[in-house]
Order: sequence, then C-alpha cells, then structure tokens
Amino acid sequence: MLNLDWKPNKASSKALYLQIADYIKFKISTAEWPVGFVIPPQRELSKLFNVNRSTLVSALDELKAEGLLEGNGKGGTKIINNISQLLNNIQPNWQSYIEEGIHMPNFKTIKQINDLEFKSDYIRLSTGEASPEMFPQEKMSVVLNEVTKSMKNLGYEGPKGMLYLREQISKYLNTFGIKAPASSILIVSGALQAIQLITIGLLQQGATVFLEDPSYMYSLQTFQSLGMRRSGIPIDEEGIKASLIPEYKKKNNSSILYTIPNFQNPTGTVMSQNRRQELMKVCQKEKLPIIEDDVYRELWIDTPPPKPIKSIDKTGLVLYVGSVSKTLSPGLRIGWIVGPEPVIERLSDIKMQTDYGSSSLSQLTVAKWIETGLYFDHIETLRKQLSLRRQVTLEVLQKYFSEIATWNIPSGGYYVWVTLKYKIGMYKLFNEACRIGILLYPGYIYDSNFNYSLRISYSYAPIEELQQGLYKLSKLIKKLINSKDT
Ligand SMILES: Cc1ncc(COP(=O)(O)O)c(C=O)c1O
Repeated sequence: MLNLDWKPNKASSKALYLQIADYIKFKISTAEWPVGFVIPPQRELSKLFNVNRSTLVSALDELKAEGLLEGNGKGGTKIINNISQLLNNIQPNWQSYIEEGIHMPNFKTIKQINDLEFKSDYIRLSTGEASPEMFPQEKMSVVLNEVTKSMKNLGYEGPKGMLYLREQISKYLNTFGIKAPASSILIVSGALQAIQLITIGLLQQGATVFLEDPSYMYSLQTFQSLGMRRSGIPIDEEGIKASLIPEYKKKNNSSILYTIPNFQNPTGTVMSQNRRQELMKVCQKEKLPIIEDDVYRELWIDTPPPKPIKSIDKTGLVLYVGSVSKTLSPGLRIGWIVGPEPVIERLSDIKMQTDYGSSSLSQLTVAKWIETGLYFDHIETLRKQLSLRRQVTLEVLQKYFSEIATWNIPSGGYYVWVTLKYKIGMYKLFNEACRIGILLYPGYIYDSNFNYSLRISYSYAPIEELQQGLYKLSKLIKKLINSKDT
C-alpha cells in the first residue's frame, strides 16, 4: 500500500479531478513516480485520495490524453512518459534498472511489514526487537557520559574494528567458553552484515547453504541474491537434525551450514547440548563449516542455554556471530564475527571495501557498556521483563487460541511459534490482520511447509496491546475458519 500524505482540497474551487491530475503530474515531474512505474489500482487510489472512483477515472483520463499514462484494468496503469521526456526524451528508464539490479527485493509481505511498522497505529506482533519501554535510557546516559570523556577522535578504525571493543568482546566471549583473542574478532554492523560478508567473502556462486527449516534466513534474499541456493534441514525439539546432514550433502554441492542454536528465529527452539556435540562431529567429518548465529543467546528466561558450538570447536570449523541488537539496541548496528585469523583477515578486507568500518561512536559506546558491566545489569532486567511478557502471552494464547492452534513454550528469546489447527487462507489472514491494525509474520515467508504457522513476537508491543492484539487476532482467525471463502 502506497503512503500518500496529500488529499485534494474539497473546499477549493478547482475541480477535484484536476487537483488529482496535477498532483500525479508533480509526482511524475519529480520522477518520484518514474517511467515504467505502475500506479496503484483505482480502488486503492480513490481511497487514498478520499474521492469516488469516477473522479479518479476523470483525472487518469486527463493524464492519458496528455500522453503521460497508459493502460488500465488488469495490467494496471503505467507511467509511460515524463513531462520533460515528452519535450526531449531524456529520462532513463529507472524501472528497468530497478528490475535488473543484482540484489533481489524483499518478499512482498516483508516489505509491507517493514513499511507499516513505522506507522504509529499498528500493534506490532511482528517486531523482533525489545520494546522501547525496555530501552535503558538512564544507563545509556551514564555510558554516553563516559564515552564523551574518553573520546579522543572519531576517525576510521583498523580493518578489524576498534581494538578496545575487540578486547572487551574477547573477555565477554570467554565467560561462555569461547577463547578468542582480539585478533580473531571482526567488528561488523550487526549480525546481518556478518552473514553477508561470510557469503560474499567465502562462498562460491552456485554453492548450497544448509540451514534449519524454517529459518530467519528464509525470510531474506541474502543468499539467493548472491547466487547461492538454500537447502532446509528439518528440526525437532532439540534443534537441526544433524544426522540427516550426510545424506543431504550427497545431493548438494553444499559449502556451509547456517544455524541459530538459541531461541531460534522463528520457532524459539534451543539446540540441546547433545545435538550441538553431534552437529560438531558430523560437520567435522563432512568438512562442513558452520555459521553459528547466536544473537539471542542472552535472552534466556528459565535457564541459560548450553554453551556455544564454537566453545567445543577444536578445529576452527565454526564462524561465530553475535551482536548487541537483541539485547541493547539494534540501532547501534554493532556485531562481531569470531573465526580463524585468515578468514577474519579476508572478511575484514571486504568490510573495508564495503564501508570502511562500523560507526566509531557505536563501537566506543558498546565497549563502555561491556567494560562498565552495565551491559550485564541491563540484560538481567531485560530477562525479567521478557519473562513477564512471555507469561502474559501464554495466558492469552491459552484463553483464546486453545481451540484453534497449538504453540511451543519458549524458554527465552522473543517469539512464540503458533500453528493453526485449521487450513485457512493465510494471505487473507495477513491482509485482514493489517486492516484491523495487527502486524505479524505469517509462516509462508519462511517456507510453504509452514503455511499455517505464525511467528508472534512478545518483545515489542506494550503489554496491553499485546493482549488486545492477540485477542483480536484470535477473533479474526475464528471468523476466517467459519467463513466459507478462505
Ligand atoms: C537470527 C538473526 N540473526 C541476525 C539478525 C539481525 O541482527 P542484527 O540487527 O545484529 O543485524 C536477526 C534479526 O532479527 C535474527 O533474528
């Protein structure tokens, strides 16, 4: 759905259809709506402009007569000329550039969520982020004060990132069994950049990446855009089924395995200690490196998860990825990769060619958070709040969803993975939920096998909204189950 902040002035003496035609001409003349762009359907536009359909059709007819628009009905109405192009035919066809760019666009549903999340009146059961209520404002002021005092300059840092931060991370990783000197740590702009660097720096085009099915990495186009394939391996309550790897490997030219062992996105699963050991053994035998994405590690509610796979890695098989996005703030954009030094050197070289390093201000800030210990105090508080939110969510689910769905009880993290007992149209559910102001991640964005599942995030919405949103969602699902046309 397009976001328009303009409406025709009904009090003006100028006809509404001419006001609309002028507005669209303005969009075309500034190339905000470039040649080749298909404008939204008439029904949607008349709603956005708050006019009846015949007024809109008159405006579009006017623009067609001027040679700016073409078509209607099924294929949509397209912009075929820019105003200046009508004069001297000079505008590039941005639409074809957009379609031919190397990186694939996001899935339509995700793009829709990304756009709608920033409109104020939605209940965000979609967002994988700590609620603004949980942001540690006071502690952040203390830390920023420290940062101001010790800030010497904010120049470029070395290729692996700020040494002071790498030293802090090295000590921190040691607390859960990862022995990594600062030289084998690379600072990145969030875990997602870590995955991108690993993909472009170490994998060949056409290679296959093994991953959990479903996985966060199915909701993005990172691997495919770079010419790699994904091969999903089933999971059970102990995590990825490691015993299947040799068989899958025979069928695929696989290069690496990507796993989220703790409070997995989207299912919330925690890989058991035994499974971690089994996975390590199998991957060692198959010479299959592992990307261990551990961004949710600290968010345990009941008991700490087992130690990272990296902590039992004696042969340098595991590239360990973490960040402060889920604990402290995703806006700082700070994460890290731990791996064998030659790999870290290679990735740091690409990082330099990509952005010359992550924000020095953010690096210094995170280093202070860790060094002062405030990071760990904050995580303790966060866990208590997550525990309360989980309890509320499970209570609401029990009350309103028992007849229509099943779900896991997450022992940490942000998500409950809810699976419906009935087959209903999930696109319809998603769209209807948006219409009543609720955003969520439907399972189909991960894989068609998970069509009837939903990822519900309990970390973001204020608690009352969380309760209200889930109640309204249960009513909507029941309505769709009972209606014949889903
Ligand atoms: C498993 C996983 N990895 C990485 C990320 C992205 O993290 P970052 O903000 O550190 O790039 C997310 C965000 O949702 C995630 O769920």
